[in-house]
Amino acid sequence: MKVGDKHYRSIWFNSETGRVQIIDQRWLPHEFRVVDLVSRADFAASIRDMWVRGAPLIGATAAFAMAAEMGRDPSDANLDEAWEELNATRPTAINLRWALNEMRELLRPLPLGDRAKAAHARALEINDEDVERNRMIGVHGLEIIRQIAAKKQPGEVVNILTHCNAGWLATVDWGTATSPMYHAVADGIPIHIWVDETRPRNQGALLTSWEMNSHDIPHHLIVDNAGGHLMQHGQVDLVIVGTDRTTAHGDVCNKIGTYLKALAAKDNGVPFYVALPSPTIDWTVKDGVAEIPIEERDDNEVTHVQGKLPDGSIGSVQISPDGTPGGNPAFDVTPRRLITGLITERGICEASPEGLAAMFPERVIS
Ligand code: MRU
Repeated sequence: MKVGDKHYRSIWFNSETGRVQIIDQRWLPHEFRVVDLVSRADFAASIRDMWVRGAPLIGATAAFAMAAEMGRDPSDANLDEAWEELNATRPTAINLRWALNEMRELLRPLPLGDRAKAAHARALEINDEDVERNRMIGVHGLEIIRQIAAKKQPGEVVNILTHCNAGWLATVDWGTATSPMYHAVADGIPIHIWVDETRPRNQGALLTSWEMNSHDIPHHLIVDNAGGHLMQHGQVDLVIVGTDRTTAHGDVCNKIGTYLKALAAKDNGVPFYVALPSPTIDWTVKDGVAEIPIEERDDNEVTHVQGKLPDGSIGSVQISPDGTPGGNPAFDVTPRRLITGLITERGICEASPEGLAAMFPERVIS
């Protein structure tokens, strides 16, 4: 999407330098920094320490990492070592394992001499496929926004609430939750976005707001606790969030706080949709609360807040007393009963085993 007047993806292969480049998201929105990822350690750190983040982008980065590794050493041993090291970087977003498996299953049967080229081609393809999937999520999600707009007075704004950053920065391009928003704007529907700040790392405040600004989409940044109040007062027409892992039965794991938004939406009759690219479905799990591993991150993310200091530098301040420990579960699970529908690249389905099975009949594991 746009950064100033230039189109960017969040990750790309620079054919002039032969290197993978990313937007280093740790410094946004205050500084726009592009960095090269070269070694396996670079790639692993970029995922673990959230230079890149968001489930689809984590997968895309892992695919490029495997390609880079095959260029260095295409042996079976290295294939397995790289898979293990990268898979251990973040536990919740299933796109990571999906992309690593895609690469390993393709590469394992190939002669060593063919692996680097094949890995590079597949990594590029995985990136392009992500872009197309998200575009299609936008096409289908637009229909939901159109239907809500049709019930309003002409020109009346559709208010959409979103949590965390499931925007283009969390994917290769378009975003998942934000793709219907871009499509609605292009369709001439007036929309306004409530952007949850999304403590502790503030992906909404830092990243989603920046994305909305860059495309002139009307929005307000709100504290995480404001959503319920806004819903009670009819100021939210629709919630759209992303997901890090969705079970075969339709439970949705996403950034911590998503569950509370879903509860408030249910209580207020506000439709709650999840934008779901198919690699985010974990067909091997059914009960999200019982089975999905929830990443526990550094308590420093809770006890401190990073931002721009008065002198313009980026710094971190402590907000809690010395000695108070932080607790930092990074994701939660929204049970399927709270979800109005899943917006996939193939269309919209019910958050249920039947709904997902009908949408992806080829993937169902009994
Ligand atoms: O910890 P993060 O920033 O990687 O978490 C991101 C989210 O929870 C997103 O909502 C999710 O990955 C969907 S991204 C299209």
